[in-house]
Amino acid sequence: MADQYAQSGEAVPASESPEIPETPGIPAIPAIRWDEPPEGPVVVLLDQTRLPGEESELVCTDPPALVQAIRTLAVRGAPLLGITGAYGVALAAARGFDVDEAADALAGARPTAVNLAYGARRAQTAYREALAGGADERRAARAVLAAARAVHAEDAEASGRMAVHGLALLDELMPGGGHRVLTHCNTGALVSGGEGTAFAVALAAHREGRLRRLWVDETRPLLQGARLTAYEAARNGMPYTLLTDNAAGSLFAAGEVDAVLIGADRIAADGSVANKVGSYPLAVLARYHHVPFIVVAPVTTVDPETPDGAAIEVEQRAGHEVTEVTVPFVSMAGSEAGGGISVAPLGTQAYNPAFDVTPPELVTAVVTEEGVVSPVTAEGLAELCARSRQVTIS
Ligand code: MRU
Repeated sequence: MADQYAQSGEAVPASESPEIPETPGIPAIPAIRWDEPPEGPVVVLLDQTRLPGEESELVCTDPPALVQAIRTLAVRGAPLLGITGAYGVALAAARGFDVDEAADALAGARPTAVNLAYGARRAQTAYREALAGGADERRAARAVLAAARAVHAEDAEASGRMAVHGLALLDELMPGGGHRVLTHCNTGALVSGGEGTAFAVALAAHREGRLRRLWVDETRPLLQGARLTAYEAARNGMPYTLLTDNAAGSLFAAGEVDAVLIGADRIAADGSVANKVGSYPLAVLARYHHVPFIVVAPVTTVDPETPDGAAIEVEQRAGHEVTEVTVPFVSMAGSEAGGGISVAPLGTQAYNPAFDVTPPELVTAVVTEEGVVSPVTAEGLAELCARSRQVTIS
């Protein structure tokens, strides 16, 4: 059974898939959807490794294909990983795979984003509960799908509420509008059931006419900022400028940044924030230049089981993502060499953590769908988690 988790999904051009009406600002293909063609249920992903050049779908017919899509970042970003984990378990149940085995493989496909395990385990719990309640396999599979759809819908709703709270906070910190916001990695509709986390706040500011500039870090090495955030900003008609990650310092020094808005992959109980590598240096810069550093994430990203930053497992990725430049980014993971163009001498060792951890004292506020925690304390986060709708996961 283990081998099947090394297979990959099948890429098909978007033109061959059912037509989805284009909504301005939202990718023409949703980041994820469940479909039930005559051949059997599938999870269809917008293949993010091919953006921005090509909007194509990746049709996953089994959980191993989804695991592979997660590892190669065809699907990525904490909230979307949660939704993917849940649909992956639904796929396992609907297609007669071992649900527990699939849930383990999905939950462990990437270690840092706690949402992934949350989504997979919540769907697994729905399956177990349905069977325990006397449902047959078919009805249990429908129950898992309902749970996955709930994870998806709740994330969409949370996204809207985060945008409202986040914009109110920006306006409070910087009365008068004209916000110049710096963001890192990609946190928009591509990572969410809705319009995202940090990006959704910037988008709300834009719609209210209060976003003067969105500074977009390119986000080395896999360029989620250049490829994905710039794509989303352009689609939404936002005033954005792309910069190399190491240009951020001079931008702060020039007084061009009013706030940093980022997402999170895991927020420990003490308020330590794991996010895309490069977030921590931004937090240090922001503190030095007296600029608010704001983290926007759904409550599902807060992990009371992880006591502090030191306990967060940071994903280490293959060195070739650093030593090679790969365009398009279709072969960046899963093999020793990535098949790209080498930019370093052969045999160069690379340090390639996917995330870094920012201590709570450098975080001005954590914005969630339940409200804002500022200052960021263990007590404040615990209170917020207690307020939020809790789903028990066995
Ligand atoms: O490695 P990725 O592309 O999955 O990393 C994503 C990020 O770091 C995002 O900032 C984070 O998941 C928050 S998404 C709302």
